[in-house]
Amino acid sequence: MLLLTPLSELNILCSYNLRDSTWSAMRNTVIPLYQPARLARLIPVMQSYVDALVANIAGCPDQDCIPFCQLSLRMAIDIIGKTAFGVEFGLSKNSAADRCCGSETHGGEGDDDVREFLKEYKRSMEFIKMDLSSSLSTILGLFLPCAQTPCRRLLRRVPGTADCKMDENERRLCRRIDAIIAGRRRDRAARRRGGDGDGDGDAAARSAPLDFIAALLDAMENGGKDFALEDRHVRALAYEHLIAGTKTTAFTLSSVVYLVSCHPRVEEKLLRELDGFAPPRGRAPTADELQSRFPYLDQVIKEAMRFHLVSPLIARQTSERVEIGGYVLPKGACVWLAPGVLARDAAQFPEPEEFRPERFAAEAEEERARHPYAHIPFGVGPRACIGHKFALQQVKLAVVELYRRYVFRHSPAMESPIQFDFDLVLAFRHGVKLRAIRRE
Ligand code: HEM
Repeated sequence: MLLLTPLSELNILCSYNLRDSTWSAMRNTVIPLYQPARLARLIPVMQSYVDALVANIAGCPDQDCIPFCQLSLRMAIDIIGKTAFGVEFGLSKNSAADRCCGSETHGGEGDDDVREFLKEYKRSMEFIKMDLSSSLSTILGLFLPCAQTPCRRLLRRVPGTADCKMDENERRLCRRIDAIIAGRRRDRAARRRGGDGDGDGDAAARSAPLDFIAALLDAMENGGKDFALEDRHVRALAYEHLIAGTKTTAFTLSSVVYLVSCHPRVEEKLLRELDGFAPPRGRAPTADELQSRFPYLDQVIKEAMRFHLVSPLIARQTSERVEIGGYVLPKGACVWLAPGVLARDAAQFPEPEEFRPERFAAEAEEERARHPYAHIPFGVGPRACIGHKFALQQVKLAVVELYRRYVFRHSPAMESPIQFDFDLVLAFRHGVKLRAIRRE
């Protein structure tokens, strides 16, 4: 089965255009970039943006109304900027406290290209909304998926249509990403001239580039056996990280902090666990520590991801005739999975409306009895989220650091009950506004 989305052609890994064998060859090329050793090397980069998030909270002029979603989104975009593109987007590190609370995104000072790039990214996120406010071809695709591509091809030639604007925006984005790729190529060439990569293998591995674009350029040069990576693939992969890895991760972090802040018993237990971990001052947890030292934090994150499911729907199209649960699906049928519905199934999650992280404790009866696919916030099967561990590493680093310094309460400015927008992913309609209380 392949993933069905209305995403543009920039998003090759996710799009209609990439089916079965090509998709799997490309995914195989990318998978090494998510190996634990490589993710562990990203910790210092991630931690530096987590530190910036904490500094931005400290610098917010109104400590009773921290715009947490915005700040966490800035962190997530900056982390993808650095780890996927090798570029400093400057949304969190360079933003002064007063600016950080505004709604606009900023690039580093004078960095017009980055600023424009981020504007185009924002616009493209609006274009790929899967609702009736979207382009005609996207709306049509919701009801008649096979008509979407021909309709989009036609409409993008008609000036003034949303499809045409989307196409223009996409071209501009492609040009910008191509420029970044060219920059990374120049960096690599300069590194080589400087003699990097010579000598022993371990040293070469340690100095291997951290950003995905540079790593993909390496893969391109070394030549895959089954799949020749081209510039357009590198471009699509880097962009896809921006789309898939930012709002999702920022939402998850915001959801964790929001839910912990209204469950004092959970907060107390979490703080006890976090306070029991005391690395030398200023040192981030290592990958091993993140893995083994925070079992309750793992449960809190899982429960937050169940409670507010980021991607409530996952789509597939059958690549052959198949029978599932007594229903025969013909080849080409569109199938929607609803992890959001599964997550509220009382048979799998007793009292599903309760926020209760302990339901995910390894020893819990409920956990042992649960169907292995009842909780699938990252999807399931060979097309499951490739950035799963990347996202969790980032969220855990952020929670550990945030609760070293603060506890949070809901701001008087936050609505109750909280409202959501069902976009490409779930979002807090008016953000999460928090009161930050310094811990002694
Ligand atoms: C908490 C954060 C995240 C959540 C909840 C999430 C969730 C998902 C889901 C539900 C899917 C579809 C899976 C399926 O169809 O079975 C997906 C796909 C994907 N995600 Fe994530 N994601 C997150 C973070 C990330 C990050 C940080 C990255 C990149 C660094 C990323 C990259 C991708 C990619 C490339 C795909 C498409 C995979 C393919 O089709 O082969 N995601 N994600």
